[in-house]
Order: sequence, then C-alpha cells, then structure tokens
Amino acid sequence: MKSATHNLRCTECGTVITGDEVNSIFRCPKCNGLYDVVYPWSENVTRPASGPEHNLPNASALRWLWQERRNSTLPIDQSGVWRFRDLLPIVSKPENVVTLREGNTPLYEMPRCAKAVGIEWLRAKHQGMNPTGSFKDTGMTAALSVAADRGYEWVACASTGNTSAAMAAYAARAGLRSIVFIPEGKIAWGKLSQSMDYGALTVQLKTDFDGCVRILTELVSRFPIYLLNSVNPYRLEGQKTPAFEMLEQLDWQVPDHIIVPGGNLANSSALGKGFMEMRHLGLISRAPKISVIQAEGANPLYRWFNDTNRIMRPVTADTRATAIRIGNPASWRKAANVIDKLGGWCEQVSEQEIALAKAQIGAEGVGCEPASAVTYAGLKKLVALGKVSPEERVVLILTGHTLKDSNYTIDYHRGELLTEAEEAQISAADKALHAGLRKPPIVLEPNPDVVMQTLESHMKVTQPA
Ligand code: F0G
Repeated sequence: MKSATHNLRCTECGTVITGDEVNSIFRCPKCNGLYDVVYPWSENVTRPASGPEHNLPNASALRWLWQERRNSTLPIDQSGVWRFRDLLPIVSKPENVVTLREGNTPLYEMPRCAKAVGIEWLRAKHQGMNPTGSFKDTGMTAALSVAADRGYEWVACASTGNTSAAMAAYAARAGLRSIVFIPEGKIAWGKLSQSMDYGALTVQLKTDFDGCVRILTELVSRFPIYLLNSVNPYRLEGQKTPAFEMLEQLDWQVPDHIIVPGGNLANSSALGKGFMEMRHLGLISRAPKISVIQAEGANPLYRWFNDTNRIMRPVTADTRATAIRIGNPASWRKAANVIDKLGGWCEQVSEQEIALAKAQIGAEGVGCEPASAVTYAGLKKLVALGKVSPEERVVLILTGHTLKDSNYTIDYHRGELLTEAEEAQISAADKALHAGLRKPPIVLEPNPDVVMQTLESHMKVTQPA
C-alpha cells in the first residue's frame, strides 16, 4: 500500500499509483486501462502487517455508526454519500467536502409493475430523487470534493445532460468554474437548462456524446482542468453508496437481482463495487446479481455480451432515451467484470418497450426519465427468458427524475412519440396496455355542460339523483 488512506489501481494491468500520481485523463500510461480506488482493507490488497490499517473495518460498528449519523445535523452526516465516508476516505479534510445533501433516496414498492411482470417482490431505488434529479449527484459530490481538495479552479465534463447538471451544481456550490460539453440538439431541455442555471460555461458541440468525450480529452490534456467524467474513479466511489443505503433500507436482507440502465457503463460498475466491498467486509454474506439493460439503438455491451469472440465494437448510437445515447462506453470492461463476477445478464430493449415501461412506472405514481425505464422493460425480458424467476427479489435502479425529459412524456401521451412504423410493430397485448396508459390532455371550452359531459364519459359514473 503506497498511501495510508487510498490508492488507484489499474483495472487492466494492476499497477498501483497514489491519487496524486494520476494523469489528467485518468488512464494508465502503460496500458490505457481505467483505475479503481483501493483502500488498505480492499480485496486483493496487501495490508500492512500491523498498525491501524491492518484491521478490516468492523461490520457491526459501521452499521451502528451509519445509523447514528442519521440523527446528526452536520452536513456530511446528512449526506447519504458521506454518511458512509468510512468506506470512501478520499478527501484529506472533511471541510473540503462539497455536499447538497445528496443520497437518502427512497426505495419504493412497485406492486402493479411486479404483478404485470409476474414476480412477487419488486422495488425501485429512485436515484432521480437526488438534488439535481439524477444519480450523478452521488458521484459528483465525491469527485468534485476531490477537485476542491486538490485546489483545482476549473472542472469539465462531456455529458448527455445529467452529469453536466450535477457537475454545474456542485461546482457552483464549491465556488469552482465549470465547462460542459454536450451534443447539440441531443439532450433533454430540462438538463440543458440546469447547466445554465448553475452557471456552467455550456458548449453545445455539433457531434454526439462520443465526439464530446474526444474534445474533452484534448481540453484536459492542454489545461489544468479537472476531468469529471466517470473515467474519474472518485465518481464511482460516490456512486457505490446507494448500494449501502439500499441494504440499510432492506434491513440488510440482500435482494437477488439489481437491474441498471447501461450508457457509459460506470454506474453498474460502481454499484457492483459497493456490493462486493460489503461482502468482503462481512456487512452482507452474498452479493446480488447485477444485470445491465441498454437501448437497442445504443447497445455495444449487449452486442459484446452476445458475441462468441467477445470483441467490443463501438456503434453509432441512436435512441430517444438520450441519457444513454452512447456508442463507445468508456467503462465497458468494468461493467462486464461486474456482470461476470456477480452472475447477471445484459439485455436490450426497443423504443416501444421503453415508452411502455416508462408509462407503467409513471402509473405507479413514481415516474422516471426514459433511460431509467429500460430497467423495467429489461426486467420483462429477463423474466420471459427465465433469467429472473417469480420468487426473486428485484430492485430497479431508476436513475433520473421524470421532469428531466417532460417533452418525451408529453409526446408519448399525445401519441406523437413513436412513428407509425414503430407503432405498427407493437403487439396487440402491448397496444392494449398503451391504450389504457395514455392520458392526453383534453382541450375544452370553459362551458360547464360540455366539461361535465366530457368528464362523465371518461369517468363512466352516473350522476347522483
Ligand atoms: N440513466 C441516466 C438518467 C443517465 O443520465 C445515464 C448516463 C445513465 C442512466 C447511464 O449510466 O453511463 O453510468 O452507464 N448519463 C451520462 C451523462 C452519460 O452524461 O449524464 P452510465
């Protein structure tokens, strides 16, 4: 172990460096691999023979401490990320932590969605209930705190909209300046407005997400600007904490299967790291399976998963779930490792399936953005394939709030989302579901008789005598 608190280990060649030694693009100079943050207590790390770092953190003491902190008024205790800081000691001074009280997100029961898919137990961990409306806040509080800790003035990211919203907010909180690269015309307006609201320098590039990443890499190589895309391993340290929080919410009863949307493929890896660390420390005795779901039009991991030669081939991505419109995912190897180690699966879902799943999640009173709905659409496929059995306890990770992309929702309910050709491919059973779920607004003259008659026809109730 080079440093007492944490180091970075290349996930490809295993080279270990200190946090200070990492280059501006967070890639191993020997093999171009990505890093993981490792601690003296991590699996496969040689611990010192004696001293405080020799002992593994004690599982029951951690559980007690994390619960105790819920009663504290300190910002770092109120944060649903930093409450678990014993397992992410990445910042030199607690004063440097930048927090908006992220985390602490609900784990909802989903009884109607469960029944419709034929399983008994289904929950949704709603990461869209974070301060900027997506799971990115949990990662951003971690990595931005490291940027502040290291004295950076500028931070930057390429984004499909949620990372940029989160980065802009946390940078503003910390008094740092931020630069956002987003693909022009290919992100939801709500997300674009957030990055402006929080005062980022917002650059719309006439390219896709993958093109934005290339320009960002150039930028951080030329200037002392801290890169906050998910290749930055500190992001993943924050994004692993919802796994801890979920287990607390379930009284430490491990679910069987976690279903995650896949874009740049960092989040699935982060949650996997969280579960594996808990297993290693004895907080849980087994880890759940993690399955990753991609949109059909942005499915490089799905293709890799089904390729007998297991070769990763980037694709030109296209899906209305713009958050996951990514053809060349940076963290695909990390995600693939998690699927392999924890025994999950990778599926793809169509635009029609995403739209239906999103409306069904909305009809539970929960709601989410399109990219999050791939989880429920994917669950249906996994059940049909026998990869999830009816008695398995399943948790969907909903990554973004429904208000992130209200245009999508309005277009869906008005029947303007899908093309005629796409509508024609929908099965009769799903057509009936769509018909029951679509609730277009009704435009009426303010005439009481007309309004009452119209409502009556919708409510199918008789007037009291
Ligand atoms: N869901 C939402 C709502 C997202 O915004 C993203 C990624 C994902 C899922 C996929 O997560 O990349 O870790 O596999 N959004 C990024 C962004 C790329 O820039 O906001 P992943």
